[in-house]
Amino acid sequence: NMTEPFTIAVDGPAAAGKGTISKAVAEHFGFAHLDTGLLYRAVGAKYLLGMDPAAAARALTAGDIEGSNLRGPEVAQAASKVAVVSEVRAALLDFQRSFARRAGGAVLDGRDIGTVICPQAEAKLFITARAEVRAQRRFSELVASGSMTSPEQVLADVRERDARDQNRAESPLKPAPDAMVIDTSDMSIKEAIHAAIAAVRSRR
Ligand code: DC
Repeated sequence: NMTEPFTIAVDGPAAAGKGTISKAVAEHFGFAHLDTGLLYRAVGAKYLLGMDPAAAARALTAGDIEGSNLRGPEVAQAASKVAVVSEVRAALLDFQRSFARRAGGAVLDGRDIGTVICPQAEAKLFITARAEVRAQRRFSELVASGSMTSPEQVLADVRERDARDQNRAESPLKPAPDAMVIDTSDMSIKEAIHAAIAAVRSRR
């Protein structure tokens, strides 16, 4: 039945290609897509303005995640910091779970989708790549968007965020035991998308 819920959980570290792959997979299957990192980024942006993270998470609205100033490195680090706070994670839980079970299927990408948000997801992907490769990709994006930074700085940022996301007490970044792991280090975007679609198909 086409209208039945079907959840595709996509997790992985920063700049592994999750976003691009999730968007393409959602388009391929005609599913809705939620980038859950945007929720934490929106809370991170409010935290940078001096708001209490838990209060910011509870008051989050759709308008907050449409803000276009959520992509920068400072907001990314702030997102990773507020993501450690358990009240923040709790406040964002229901929204993510109901999105996941919407009629017609959903793709959610983040850090804890397959492990905590949707442990019953019909398909789970863990998208990863070597830190150097991820940093190089992020560096190229930043330079293209006019940012002044160095490859060393971007690699240091990626490593710092990985360490915080993997070592936090609550909902740390890790593959679910039943996740299909895709390492995109030596793949083109097209190859990575094909691998992801094939993996999901094997579970449908
Ligand atoms: O996916 P992203 O780079 O936009 O995520 C930004 C930060 O938000 C990430 O470093 C950790 C946090 N995050 C999280 O803890 N859980 C998620 N499901 C998504 C993001």
